[in-house]
Amino acid sequence: MDPKSKIMKLSEHDLIESIQTGNISICVIGIGRIGLPTALSFANSGLSTIGVDINPKLVEMINSKIFPLKDEPGYDVIFDEVINHNFHASTKIQDVVPNSDVIVLSLPTPMDDNNVPDYSALLSVGKQLGELLTKDSLVIIESTVEPGFIENDLINIIENSEKKLVAGKDFAIGVCPETANPGQIMNDFEKLPRLVGAIDDHTANVIMKIYKHVFTVDLIPMPNCKTANAVKLTTNVFRDINIAFVNELAILFEKVGIDIMTVLEAAKSKYNFQVHYAGPGVGGPCLPVNSYQMINLAKKMGFDTLKSVETGRIINESMPDHVIDLLHDAFDESKKSLENSNVLILGISYKPDVKDIQITPAEVIIKKLKNLKANIFIYDPYFKSTNVFDLQTESNLIEALEKSDALILVTAHKEFHNLDPIFLKSKMKNAIVIDSKCIINQQAAKNSGLVYRGLGRGKI
Ligand SMILES: NC(=O)c1ccc[n+]([C@@H]2O[C@H](COP(=O)([O-])OP(=O)(O)OC[C@H]3O[C@@H](n4cnc5c(N)ncnc54)[C@H](O)[C@@H]3O)[C@@H](O)[C@H]2O)c1
Repeated sequence: MDPKSKIMKLSEHDLIESIQTGNISICVIGIGRIGLPTALSFANSGLSTIGVDINPKLVEMINSKIFPLKDEPGYDVIFDEVINHNFHASTKIQDVVPNSDVIVLSLPTPMDDNNVPDYSALLSVGKQLGELLTKDSLVIIESTVEPGFIENDLINIIENSEKKLVAGKDFAIGVCPETANPGQIMNDFEKLPRLVGAIDDHTANVIMKIYKHVFTVDLIPMPNCKTANAVKLTTNVFRDINIAFVNELAILFEKVGIDIMTVLEAAKSKYNFQVHYAGPGVGGPCLPVNSYQMINLAKKMGFDTLKSVETGRIINESMPDHVIDLLHDAFDESKKSLENSNVLILGISYKPDVKDIQITPAEVIIKKLKNLKANIFIYDPYFKSTNVFDLQTESNLIEALEKSDALILVTAHKEFHNLDPIFLKSKMKNAIVIDSKCIINQQAAKNSGLVYRGLGRGKI
């Protein structure tokens, strides 16, 4: 059987016909948070798709028809429709790649303990592709990488295998950086324009045809891979720096007695102000990593520093300390000691309404509290009765409140938006509340008798 269509050699007419009749085969390598919805979208568009992952448990789960991303609405339905029809998962990259026309890479690109970008998954798969790619196949990288990585590193490693494949001649390569937001991936896949960059115009055209069929969103052609990757990084680094800006203002305004939320709400009325919100830090697999990717690029280019980005990182990484300062202040007001007290962390996800704790500021806050000898409890609707950060999480919010002297609201999950100060006061032992996302009404908190500190809010 040769399911391959030699996609890069098809005429425009045959390419479109092959796509519309589902006559090209796709493999998505890395079927995690982004790769699985991507693979499901390909399958849902009628293209025969296989997801490849090194995690055998994940592959087994998927092939047993268990959908692993419970917090991605909409994809559960698609999963049920396509699983074991034109989609399944595999751990065997060596079987799948040679039979695929299009190889999409959605591999992780984290950073190491020294904040240096870690491209080892892409490089390891790149090495395998050098042995496994067959002539005229197409590789598309969706992972977030720094500009130049595809041209200088990935293509090199693919070409330097025994097969001595040459990019642009034996195989085609391009990028379509992923920009979706966890928790709303379906919405973003249906609405967000996507960037397409490639090694040459023909490759870009083939990618555009496929993605237009699968995603139906606007596609923005980029002159090459590195520009597309630069756009992706620029949008996220912009957010990281702007959050640092409001975080710094938040700390200043606390001292002056100005409420950052009141300022931001009013500032939004100015047409060219784009609002960002203060908080306990910036986490997740994207923003912090993308800033360090940009810094890494600058270093490679001989820059000593990338001042705005590095300063932003310093500010955002200092926010857990500020949260602890607020807690100390509240304990001082209560004339109680933080040591040996019970502190409840409300929300550990790095952002609201998703089950994801990658680089979450909650972890840093918890580590600092442990050093201060506080007893820590965690309640998060996405992590009930499980072990996280070496702690057993709570399953019941009321029971968790009843044993707590203080709480720190870290993640503004929907479930926490209607927390009533009177209710908190009636349940908690000491009723200290640190609201790092300013979602509790400060006046109501004061009236209820809570010892309340809001990040970016002066005392009232
Ligand atoms: N999660 C996000 O919010 C988000 C948004 C946009 C872009 N991105 C980017 O998308 C990429 C993927 O991120 P993610 O959040 O989906 O990561 P993830 O960790 O959820 O998924 C990655 C998957 O790749 C698998 N994997 C790792 N090494 C492998 C290998 N050698 N061979 C096969 N499979 C392997 C892992 O087992 C995992 O299932 C990253 O570059 C990330 O920066 C992520």
